[in-house]
Amino acid sequence: MAKTYIFLGPPGAGKGTQAQRLVEEKGFVQLSTGDILREAVKNQTELGKKAKEYMDSGKLVPDSIIIGIIKEKLQGLQGKDIILDGFPRTIPQAEALDTMLPEVERKLDGVILFQVEDNEVIKRLSGRRVDPKTGKVYHIVFNPPPEGVEVIQREDDKEEVIRKRLDVYHSQTAPLIDYYKQKGNLVIIQADRPPQEVYNALINVIK
Ligand code: AP5
Repeated sequence: MAKTYIFLGPPGAGKGTQAQRLVEEKGFVQLSTGDILREAVKNQTELGKKAKEYMDSGKLVPDSIIIGIIKEKLQGLQGKDIILDGFPRTIPQAEALDTMLPEVERKLDGVILFQVEDNEVIKRLSGRRVDPKTGKVYHIVFNPPPEGVEVIQREDDKEEVIRKRLDVYHSQTAPLIDYYKQKGNLVIIQADRPPQEVYNALINVIK
């Protein structure tokens, strides 16, 4: 059966950075609800128009919209190893996923919690820059973009929005830690270490 992992953790924990490496080196498909939504905003689709206001203010997009997106994407990914990056983010999303997975002949192989303190999140996100052409993520200090690569800052990486996203994480997403602990599939990775060390820990989990 194809593998299915969830990447859980606060904004800026490094979920996207690590997922990109697994895509490049291990052939996983990264299913990032944040990337899907940003693409929709950029292309001004109906979904993008609905999602923009929530995203720019650091709030979660309503569950019904997100669950619909994931359901559709999962149907097209049969046989592929996947990382759910940024989904689920609420208990109703997690419950919907529990129902969806057997329908697409999958089971959850693990939920990886990237653990980082809030002050580190603020440092990381305020320095994050993205290459709009490739989607590759950099940091002005920790992982600067190569010379000649033009990068932009995400709308929601302004300090007041970062703080709002952290509040939302603690109130709406952190309850998933207990949810998956009780199911026995939570693995915690200390993510306040250099990316290579985090990756080594991750590879030990995803064999
Ligand atoms: P989304 O895009 O999912 O944002 P997020 O969860 O807040 O996660 P980030 O992308 O900010 O962080 P990351 O953990 O991927 O970190 P990264 O690797 O980039 O969601 C955006 C919005 O979309 C939400 O606010 C919401 O509105 C909506 N949304 C998305 N999913 C939803 C859902 N399921 N339900 C409802 N709404 C949803 O790293 C961050 C920075 O740190 C980078 O600059 C990187 O270079 C650097 N870095 C990474 N690792 C390290 C390291 N080990 N050491 C030093 N620096 C590092």
